[in-house]
Amino acid sequence: MNLKNCHNFSDFRILAKKKLPSPIFHYIDGAADDEVTYNRNTTAFNEVDLVPNVLRGVESVDLSTTIFGKKIDLPFYCSPTALQRLFHYDGERAVGKAAKKFNTMFGVSALATVSVEEISSLIDTPKMFQFYFHKDRGLNDSCLERAKAANFDVMALTVDTITGGNRERDLRTGFTSPPKLTLSSLFSFATKPMWGINYLTKGKFELPHLQDFVKEGTSTNSSIGNYFSTMLDQSMNWNDAEKLCSKWGGHFALKGIMSVEDAKKAVDIGCTGIMVSNHGGRQLDGSRSPFDQLAEIVDAVGDKIDVICEGGFQRGTHMLKALSLGAKACAGGRLYLYALAAAGQAGVERALGQYKAELERDMKLMGCTKISDLNRNNLRFRYT
Ligand code: LAC
Repeated sequence: MNLKNCHNFSDFRILAKKKLPSPIFHYIDGAADDEVTYNRNTTAFNEVDLVPNVLRGVESVDLSTTIFGKKIDLPFYCSPTALQRLFHYDGERAVGKAAKKFNTMFGVSALATVSVEEISSLIDTPKMFQFYFHKDRGLNDSCLERAKAANFDVMALTVDTITGGNRERDLRTGFTSPPKLTLSSLFSFATKPMWGINYLTKGKFELPHLQDFVKEGTSTNSSIGNYFSTMLDQSMNWNDAEKLCSKWGGHFALKGIMSVEDAKKAVDIGCTGIMVSNHGGRQLDGSRSPFDQLAEIVDAVGDKIDVICEGGFQRGTHMLKALSLGAKACAGGRLYLYALAAAGQAGVERALGQYKAELERDMKLMGCTKISDLNRNNLRFRYT
């Protein structure tokens, strides 16, 4: 398997597995408890069928959409994800440059391995910063100030990580940030020497937004579950979110909204968007999938704020279904992370290009030439 043989999500996943030491692969690939929600996030798309129309003159297709006041050329974007330089030594640089090439949004996590300042110097396309509300108020202020100074367009407050999810694959492999060799992972690191050489020679592993405030994650090994449970402020409530929203003073989103009640509150506190998301199934197993929950949320707030469907996408047709239900855009992490691990920027570009080509083809086959042509008449639910 090499990059040229990667034709879809599953091919990239296989190549990523070949390249990464197993604790790192399973950190991306794994989710909470029995991973029921993680699987459901994708299988949910299969319970809805597309109903195409024909004879509509579809020689040119416009995939652009506008989110948070910014026009992007694709109706999907790269969600913020943590620790990207563990997956490929270029990490966020690679993903950011690929997103720029396709003029789509790039999300940078507070747990990123490249700074907002550097990302801002590399790409002038729309950028989102994903913020975690820490106990350390100095850290919180610093993240907001740095993202603002680096001209980030959107602040997304993560609301579904109030405590660490139970990621049993990470418990088994002993995955931590920074990675540590354990007796059980030794073999796996030894069998991926290229990864080890790159890790040691391509620049120090850092968490530039956090390391001046907390040592966990950089100089002290921590699992992500443990980091969430000990570093984040579990007293966070709607008042805190409202204050952050007004402090930021620009486009502000809540990432990880699943109920209509919360979607309405997001509107009330001044958010301009929400990500309907269960954190890729990595937090509350048994939670509903974003796609299953999308219609009722769009019906409640879709005319007031941007509703983004996040998680589970592996195909252009999955995106067509979410867009037909009324999502403003689709987003995902694994969507591009396996491709990053497989081949860095070239891998991410290939993956984004494939989703784009799938969407163009599928839009034509649906008889649609622009995103606003997609609507619920195009869908039939099998079991209702
Ligand atoms: C995760 C966080 C860091 O591992 O987004 O799910």
